Amino acid sequence: MSGSNQLWKATYDAETQDQLNEAYKHWATEYDRDTVQGMGYVGPVTACKMLDNYLESPKSRVLDAGCGTGLVGEILARHGYGRLDAMDISKDMLEVAAQKDVYGKLIQADMNEPLKKLTDDTYDASICVGTFTYAHVGPDAFDELIRITKPGGYVCFTIRDGAYQEYGYRQRMHELEATNQWELLEMAKQDYLVKEGVTAKFCVYRVGNC
Ligand SMILES: C[S@@+](CC[C@H](N)C(=O)[O-])C[C@H]1O[C@@H](n2cnc3c(N)ncnc32)[C@H](O)[C@@H]1O
Repeated sequence: MSGSNQLWKATYDAETQDQLNEAYKHWATEYDRDTVQGMGYVGPVTACKMLDNYLESPKSRVLDAGCGTGLVGEILARHGYGRLDAMDISKDMLEVAAQKDVYGKLIQADMNEPLKKLTDDTYDASICVGTFTYAHVGPDAFDELIRITKPGGYVCFTIRDGAYQEYGYRQRMHELEATNQWELLEMAKQDYLVKEGVTAKFCVYRVGNC
């Protein structure tokens, strides 16, 4: 197994948040090269394109949740978006994201907990790529992304195939739909890590008015 694959595997094998943060600490500076060039990571490009199809204006305020090193922010900035905030639990990943110079606020927060630093109905959209996956962020985080996104706004995210059913994402997505907290606009299985043969679900929901 190559060095970069070992670092990637360490993030999926983490048993505690501390172990996960430690894994990203060792990976932060090489993450972009290892994922994009090394593994053919196309998740950010595909998800940003999907969200861009729904947002009416580049003035939309967007939260990049689980921003990592800021790959999503860089792509959204290239699409013309200039009101971007970033959130991640890892200080080391946020430090790399800050260097991209595309974000306003950089928020350190645990998405598995209530997002106390963020008020209701703040964003026109939240986007979360690569973070609903093994050993990372669980399905309860959907509720918080809905809370901080404006009614009528969008929540766009990826879920690694495999983790989708195993981790309870599917069930929570359906429950939130059944209670009109969000409405599914699009869900597609797409390439995610092309060179690893990994696919993911790419989803866009519209936040309800309740
Ligand atoms: C695979 S990276 C994806 C980063 C970026 N969105 C991308 O597509 O490149 C997953 C990110 O989720 C973050 N993360 C893991 N657990 C988290 C949690 N509980 N709260 C917030 N962020 C978390 C990690 O620190 C890491 O930066």
